[in-house]
Amino acid sequence: MPSRDVTVAVLGATGAVGEQILRNLEERSFPIRELRLLASARSAGKKVRFKGKEVEVQEATPEAFEGVDIALFSAGGGVSEKFAPEAVKRGAVVIDNTNAFRMNPEVPLIVPEVNGDQISQHKGIIANPNCSTIQMVVALKPLVEHFGLERVIVSTYQAVSGSGTRAMEELADQSRAALEGKEGPRNIMPVGKLTKHYPIAFNVLPQCDVAQENGFTLEEMKMVRETNKIFGDDTIGVTATCVRVPVMRGHSESIYVELKKEFELSEVRDALRNGKGIILQDDIASQEYPMPLDVVGRDEVFVGRVRKDTIHPRGLNLWVVCDNLLKGAATNAVQIAEKVATQVGQ
Ligand code: A2P
Repeated sequence: MPSRDVTVAVLGATGAVGEQILRNLEERSFPIRELRLLASARSAGKKVRFKGKEVEVQEATPEAFEGVDIALFSAGGGVSEKFAPEAVKRGAVVIDNTNAFRMNPEVPLIVPEVNGDQISQHKGIIANPNCSTIQMVVALKPLVEHFGLERVIVSTYQAVSGSGTRAMEELADQSRAALEGKEGPRNIMPVGKLTKHYPIAFNVLPQCDVAQENGFTLEEMKMVRETNKIFGDDTIGVTATCVRVPVMRGHSESIYVELKKEFELSEVRDALRNGKGIILQDDIASQEYPMPLDVVGRDEVFVGRVRKDTIHPRGLNLWVVCDNLLKGAATNAVQIAEKVATQVGQ
């Protein structure tokens, strides 16, 4: 714990992730001296309850970071690019939840259970990985340690909350409308800033982000690059298909891996059971496996459906589920902030 309480700013405090960051700071009794809630001009003056008191939301400006020790950013990449340098210039450590700085070689990309020892290498900005990457690397960490990892083939089943509060409203509105035989609003899914929008209610969308030149989406390439960076190993061959499903909260992933060493399934289960931040919930015979509805509000990564491939001798299948707003975003950021707080408080 730090020797003094710290001043914390939350940028994007009114958003889906921002709200969870506040809940996390409260529940984990984060050592806060002053809390600044920042958002767009639209939210200025709005009141948010924190530890039984009302805190007023302010418009984000460079000056709002004056005197801030730790700033948690969750307001989109463009906003981070604009304000992170301003906050760092004023002495804050920024923990950024967007894609803006993740692949910058100067910026550590951190999942505390996996590479928390690299936090101290920061030069003012620490990046929080993509939600789908976080849950995957937490699940893969014990396998990397015990067996080595050669290949990863992942397909995601991602909840709409990953696209923010308006996306959650869109799923609810479309679902209600569809049950009445009507068409609901279509403004956000699959990607807000693109021109074509498809229904997400009662549908599955094989696109979670903008297209890249190689035919993958940005979300898919984030999973590839971020996994290599977090494990510090570009030889791990990752390929991803990212899919949006009509689930409010909780991302699921079907992960196939090829390990370096041959393994017994019991050894893999033991490694996963003892892995940091993992709950193994794996007994298909008793219909025990993780599902999104069961993990909402939980900070851990849930792993089930552990199977040895029937063809490849070192092939293994996993099903990994996690609350994308918590460990996939807010909890991971607050865990990093806790470590930073012990440094700035000295
Ligand atoms: P606001 O509520 O004022 O629009 P979500 O991911 O749920 O959509 O939330 C996005 C968060 O980022 C919200 O808190 C939103 O504030 C904030 N935000 C969006 N644009 C800006 C901006 N230009 N400056 C500061 N905050 C922003």
